[in-house]
Amino acid sequence: MKPVKINRRRIKVGLELTSKCNLRCGMCPLPVLRRPYEDMEWWLVEKAEREIHGMGLELKWLHEMGEPLLYSRIDDAIRLFPEASVSTNGLVLTEEIGKRLLATPLKRLRICIDSINPEVYPQLRTGGDFNKLAELTKAFLEQAKGHPLKIELQKMRSRLTTDETVADFKRFFELKKYENARIIEKTCEALDVNEETDLHGKFYGCMQGGFFTWLVVFADGRVTHCCYDAHGDQIFGDLKTQSLEEMISSERFAKMHEAFAKNDLSELPRCAECFKHGGKDPAFNSILSTVQNLPDGAKDLVRKVIDLRYK
Ligand SMILES: C[S@@+](CC[C@H](N)C(=O)[O-])C[C@H]1O[C@@H](n2cnc3c(N)ncnc32)[C@H](O)[C@@H]1O
Ligand code: SF4
Repeated sequence: MKPVKINRRRIKVGLELTSKCNLRCGMCPLPVLRRPYEDMEWWLVEKAEREIHGMGLELKWLHEMGEPLLYSRIDDAIRLFPEASVSTNGLVLTEEIGKRLLATPLKRLRICIDSINPEVYPQLRTGGDFNKLAELTKAFLEQAKGHPLKIELQKMRSRLTTDETVADFKRFFELKKYENARIIEKTCEALDVNEETDLHGKFYGCMQGGFFTWLVVFADGRVTHCCYDAHGDQIFGDLKTQSLEEMISSERFAKMHEAFAKNDLSELPRCAECFKHGGKDPAFNSILSTVQNLPDGAKDLVRKVIDLRYK
């Protein structure tokens, strides 16, 4: 079988420093993860750096599942991947961790607040203490004031949060005082059950716009081709024993790719889940790919239109 031709500029890369987490959020597959909660060994982080950069790729996120600020060498990892961003639930963003982050070349930190309603927050971020998060986030905004680090405060769009606005978030965190901070909005998909809930929308086909748009390295070194494959149902290699080039040119990867192209999802359980409500029509799928490849601002606008269903 011929190796798959890939467009390296289109591939986004995620590296899961840890699959351990201090929360068990309602929208996240982490509480029922079908793989161990563990840290990536440091030698593997270093190998990942050589492999990812050696292939001319850039790292987008220092997570898949898990809370990256729990990783003891988070600052060393950022130094290896200065292009990568960090997303955090914010609950371990103490002054000391803040100081360590601000001493690295980190360009973007996303703090997932999701809701500023103290009654709704714990329904999304199970195990989280809203008052603590608000206090830590406000203190970090002050600590990072005037720093080139871009801070994104995430607001979640779901049925439970329809009455919260971006303006409410800006007021709550006094963003007028902090030029390096902004609010971003996000929706969640039902990764395990693929059904609509108060927290999730459902999938209608390949929401990534193509079979291979992501390369995600789990904490144990196994590699999947999609960031929605949280449990590792579609692994195509293992960084502990292989190079990324070997994985991408492997027979297994070519077979998976071909099966997807032929719409044969019998051996692709994660993809089958995404397609179970339809979306196999190529025209529909090409609309999804176009949306996926829009710049972030335009994508936000599309999301807002889609989210009218929550109203
Ligand atoms: C899995 S978390 C890992 C990093 C960190 N623990 C955090 O919460 O930011 C990364 C992002 O995934 C998002 N997320 C969780 N469950 C999701 C879902 N079912 N669909 C889409 N995004 C989800 C979270 O909102 C968060 O922004
Ligand atoms: S969303 Fe982040 S903080 Fe919440 S359980 Fe998932 S990995 Fe942990």
